Amino acid sequence: METKKWVVDIEGNLSTTYPHIKEAAELLKKNEVIAFPTETVYGLGGNAKETEAVNKIFQAKGRPSDNPLIVHIADQAQLQEFVSTVPTVAQKLMDHFWPGPLTIILPAIKDVVSERVTAGLSTVGVRMPDHPVALALLKEAGLPLAAPSANLSGKPSPTSAKHVWKDLNGRIAGIVDGGITGVGLESTVIDCTSVPPIILRPGGVTKEQIQQVIGEVNIDPALTKEDEAPKSPGMKYTHYAPQAPLQIFDGSVTFVQEAVNRSKSSGRKVGVLATDETKQQYEADVVISCGSRSDLSTIANRLYDSLRAFDETDVDIIISESFPKTGIGEAIMNRLEKAATLPIQREE
Ligand code: TXA
Ligand code: MG
Repeated sequence: METKKWVVDIEGNLSTTYPHIKEAAELLKKNEVIAFPTETVYGLGGNAKETEAVNKIFQAKGRPSDNPLIVHIADQAQLQEFVSTVPTVAQKLMDHFWPGPLTIILPAIKDVVSERVTAGLSTVGVRMPDHPVALALLKEAGLPLAAPSANLSGKPSPTSAKHVWKDLNGRIAGIVDGGITGVGLESTVIDCTSVPPIILRPGGVTKEQIQQVIGEVNIDPALTKEDEAPKSPGMKYTHYAPQAPLQIFDGSVTFVQEAVNRSKSSGRKVGVLATDETKQQYEADVVISCGSRSDLSTIANRLYDSLRAFDETDVDIIISESFPKTGIGEAIMNRLEKAATLPIQREE
């Protein structure tokens, strides 16, 4: 399949952008799938109500079918069509964080969105993205769009059209290129069918921000358990992972360098995922900084691009620094720990 690419001007030059949005929206209405930028990562969108379209999303990504998809909307009024009730806390969250990087799990009306979207659950995850291109496309198509991240399953999520192209060229109908995404990590997922609500995935909206709006919130216990070792062999290589195995070392530069030295002495080419403050201090085959420690939001923004950059090198192993789990750091560490194939090591 030929994958079209439309470069759009997100600063809002509508006269040149609109024809591209229109062409992409026409393809969506014909049950084709299109990658588009959101404020978090690029999504791979398809008509959430049509199983034919949703099947194409799963096929293009090679995604396991028991993992439900997020439905994207441009207007809260669209919820009436496929959500049965909106609890008060959910309404508060929407009013406060939408459009924005928060996915809210709500009770679904049966048989409106494809059951491939909900993976057969009685709930549906919904969000309104805060990106002019995503919103324009949603409005022009006039459809709720199911959209997982637009990467091959298992790879780091795409934060640029170049990443999407690398993974999905030839597998999807088109890519709307709106430049680099802002947050760089996926939305926070919160289940509002439980009281109090439960954060299932940390992301662009922090737990602290959510607590300020609704008070009590729980965290999925699976997230707070230290993921010292992959739970099962099948989980090993499944998420956000670059080609080379990755291991996190939590400690000083000396502690990280010692790990580098051990790998080097066994004849391996070693990459280090470092920060602006430390990158000059390592002796390794490849050193990539994902930003300054003084600004975790930049680290979030560049994390996936940095992980993908190692795929362009010939390193055999990636040794990563660790980050504080405060604010967006919680999401950064969640993704890094999922990308890791070996247990995290901490300095005594
Ligand atoms: O920022 C994002 O959320 C991006 C952009 C494209 O919007 N999308 C994204 O989608 O990250 P995806 O498919 O990669 O992640 C969806 C997450 C998965 O962890 C999935 O299990 C969860 O949301 N999810 C979706 N529907 C759910 C439901 N009904 N119940 C529980 N979890 C759900
Ligand atoms: Mg994903």
